[in-house]
Amino acid sequence: MRKMVALGAVAVGAVALWWRKNPSACPYSQRFWVEAPHPLITRARLREILEPQPGERLLEIGPGTGYYTLELAAWVGDQGSIEILDIQQEMLDHTIRAARERGLWNVNPTRGDAQELGWDDDTFDAAILITVLGEIPDQDAALRRFAAEVGNWPQEVEDWGWCARFCYQVIERRGTGGGNFRLMYSRFLDEAGRDEATLAAHAAAQWTSLAEDLLAASEADAPQPELWSRVRGAAAEVLDAEERLWPALARSDDREDQALKRAK
Ligand SMILES: C[S@@+](CC[C@H](N)C(=O)[O-])C[C@H]1O[C@@H](n2cnc3c(N)ncnc32)[C@H](O)[C@@H]1O
Repeated sequence: MRKMVALGAVAVGAVALWWRKNPSACPYSQRFWVEAPHPLITRARLREILEPQPGERLLEIGPGTGYYTLELAAWVGDQGSIEILDIQQEMLDHTIRAARERGLWNVNPTRGDAQELGWDDDTFDAAILITVLGEIPDQDAALRRFAAEVGNWPQEVEDWGWCARFCYQVIERRGTGGGNFRLMYSRFLDEAGRDEATLAAHAAAQWTSLAEDLLAASEADAPQPELWSRVRGAAAEVLDAEERLWPALARSDDREDQALKRAK
């Protein structure tokens, strides 16, 4: 029995590792993963952070089977709407069916790829994606765009102060935020005797430095060009550190794979 459990754990680990290296959409046939309770990312927590208001128009990318969609639709009410975008038609059909069964007619589906959104800027009051980024092949794109745009937030978003403060919290204060997560990861790499530990520790320091600059920028009553210039510079440093870390990890994984194959 113990052997079977251990084999099962190894198999699950192998699938998880393969998925991490080959990001792709969770197939509809395996939807039980997204239908299970989401203990740390609860709907109540989403509501607290997002503060959706009646009448708002929201975009949800990758709704899966609608775990959050139905609540979102109820929160914005008849006068509001939820656009759902998913790469899989079955996920959209499932969510729309569930919405209609609950008498919610304000959910509108669009099939598409999150990497190429077709809406104009300012179309939505808010956009969310939960446990989706890990399935998108070009994961660096999100960080590249963030680094390119964050320095312009005061010119581009009304609530730039709130955004900067929230971003600081995501990086430094909430669960697996960039600084904390990278630091933990660098210690793990160090314990495993991996050379990339230094690169990961450097990336962690850059994330923390960006978080501090965002916090400072968020505390000013009006946008301070000097503070936002520091934010822009710190975000470029983060991107540079991450872009050095990822290929180094991938090269090291490939070396290990080859060594394992030779040993067989
Ligand atoms: C793990 S599920 C998460 C579902 C839901 N957000 C939840 O937390 O229950 C990921 C969803 O993202 C969708 N998805 C994956 N890659 C996508 C892409 N490139 N563009 C749009 N949707 C994508 C999948 O089809 C799936 O519905």
